[in-house]
Amino acid sequence: MTTISRRSFIQTALALGATAAWGQPLPSHSKAPWHERRDFYPEGVASGDPQSDSVLLWTRRPPTTGNAVERLTVEVAQDESFTRVIATAEAPISEASDWTCRVLAGGLRSAQVYWYRFTDANGNGSRVGRTLTAPSDNDTTPVRFAFVSCQNTNQGAQNAYRRMIFEDERAAEQDRLGFVLHLGDFIYEIVWYPQDRPQGMYGRRLRDIVRYEHGEKIHDFHIPTDVGDYRAIYRAYLHDPDLQDARARWPFVCMWDNHEFSWIGWQSLQQFGGINRPAQARKVAANQAFFEYQPARLYKPSGPTLNQFDPPRVVDAPITHFDEHGLGLEPNNLVAIHSLRGYRTMRWGRNVELIITDQRSYRSEEPTYRTEAQAFMSDAFPGLMPQEVLDILDGGCAYNNGHPPPTIRYGGKDIANFRRDQPPTTILGVEQKAWFLERLKQSKATWKIWGDTVATLDMRADPQNLPIGLTRPWPGAGYAGFDASTGTGDHSTAYTERGEIYDFVRDQGITGFATIAGDRHSFWAGLAAKGLPPKAFEPVGIAFVTGSISAPGVIEAFEHAFPRDHPLRSLFVGQGPADTRPQALMNLLLRHGVRSCLEYLHSGDVQKARALSNADLSPHVSFVDMGGHGYAVVRVTSDALETEFVCIPRPIERSEGADGGPLLYRTKHRVSLWRKGEAPKLETRIVEGDAKFSV
Ligand SMILES: [Fe+2]
Repeated sequence: MTTISRRSFIQTALALGATAAWGQPLPSHSKAPWHERRDFYPEGVASGDPQSDSVLLWTRRPPTTGNAVERLTVEVAQDESFTRVIATAEAPISEASDWTCRVLAGGLRSAQVYWYRFTDANGNGSRVGRTLTAPSDNDTTPVRFAFVSCQNTNQGAQNAYRRMIFEDERAAEQDRLGFVLHLGDFIYEIVWYPQDRPQGMYGRRLRDIVRYEHGEKIHDFHIPTDVGDYRAIYRAYLHDPDLQDARARWPFVCMWDNHEFSWIGWQSLQQFGGINRPAQARKVAANQAFFEYQPARLYKPSGPTLNQFDPPRVVDAPITHFDEHGLGLEPNNLVAIHSLRGYRTMRWGRNVELIITDQRSYRSEEPTYRTEAQAFMSDAFPGLMPQEVLDILDGGCAYNNGHPPPTIRYGGKDIANFRRDQPPTTILGVEQKAWFLERLKQSKATWKIWGDTVATLDMRADPQNLPIGLTRPWPGAGYAGFDASTGTGDHSTAYTERGEIYDFVRDQGITGFATIAGDRHSFWAGLAAKGLPPKAFEPVGIAFVTGSISAPGVIEAFEHAFPRDHPLRSLFVGQGPADTRPQALMNLLLRHGVRSCLEYLHSGDVQKARALSNADLSPHVSFVDMGGHGYAVVRVTSDALETEFVCIPRPIERSEGADGGPLLYRTKHRVSLWRKGEAPKLETRIVEGDAKFSV
């Protein structure tokens, strides 16, 4: 455990833009005239980024009937009834930070549960929050934490959080979660107003959660344009009762993904209708709202000002010049993307170091979103792109040792390689990547867990094995990957960068390397390898992706949007002879291949279908469910890591029960710590429920 002085602690709090509250050795009874008025704190309370001796606390207390409160008293106690208060502080709040309040509580003991609450001068109090500190760096007690992503209160219910709370409350003390890692899409900035889309979204009803005061309407949805709009969407989300209860129960560790800024956002650019546009002011606004609404240890270069973001001034200037790593050199772009640094590490005892990275602020443009990439797509094969095309587009000028082809063969034609003069795709950016690799190398923890908001596991299919005559001939040479709009555009198709990272892990002899991710709205468990057959398959770690909390996944989208008469529809959402509704056959497609899908469609027999598995297709995948929602729990000891997937039914409406509704399945994926030079081996078990197409 690191012990720091009160003085350096206050400097830390200042650097985080938080008020400092220092723990006293002797607890005393609360002196605050607290009486609970949740209506005065409509976004609840939260805590975040715990360390072994401190944690950030958060609330929001807006003015009521014109009366602004300027200070709140925060109390931290060892008990829920606040008879053993160990820290008290006065925290300023103001309009400049939208009445949000950030307090760093320090001088705490490691691996402890604490309670906290806020009170105004009239005794109007927030609800009581519960939080935990991290174990000390040498503590080998088993660790448990959850990871989640992609909640959408415009389109669904947060039953997954209710289930998580239900299970945690009933768990033995040592089995309870230490924290919740949120890997992004905490909000969706794109909002459909119900009247603009009376038919709803897929089979879902749209909720009227927010109206942007200065929003921009694009097609039938609305996006935020300034900090007021971004703040409004955070507030709207935090009014969800299940999310609010979850934030009050555990510390959250939050990292943004794309939707905290913009759907197809990269650096400070937005993209709509295939056109990139500069959005530096919106990127800064998005960062400001994140800073204000997420209690996280983030670095802001605007300086250590108490409780305020102090946004840098930027203009939306065109971004036309990029360096040799794809970074836009326009000065306002650089100011905007550096206005808040999200990447950071978090130690949780002897066995866990979380290395959390930012996949959106520094990344180069996703090649498959370019209009030129359309030439490598075909309506006959929705979402699918030949693996060799993805490889060449990713590699850019570095492909084939710096000798990229001028044209790429697709469907019997030679098409210009629009990427031949551009650098390979980077998702981390050169500066963050150097930091990331250094952290991996330096880490003393048993398990180096990469919190990557986007997935790393290849998502591929074998359309080359389709029987002749079913549809048009596959235009590629062999396997297919997927384009970004169908769910990749992540580390699974950034082959060059992923290869560089995995080679580093191998060359440095790093063991216990695990990646946990979100974004893909699907559950995946598997092995981290830079190449798949016919290339060499050499795993260097394990990798997981969690299903979305509530945002729709690709199976749901395909059920509604894949053309009914398309010859390949049944490979994704088909029905066996005895099925009464579409099945998630896309799972079988990704795990075992087209022959298995066709067998299932013919016989309805999953065993027979699996017997026709294409063993070369996905040796890296142990489990895949493109339709699953819920959350994942990681359990770590000195010699094993186990990830559990808790999958709930499609969360279309809120479940009123205390358990958040039924489970669809629960699976466990376990690996023993491997030694240097050994390959990890993942064991998958279905503990309860039905996941028959996923294994
Ligand atoms: Fe998402």
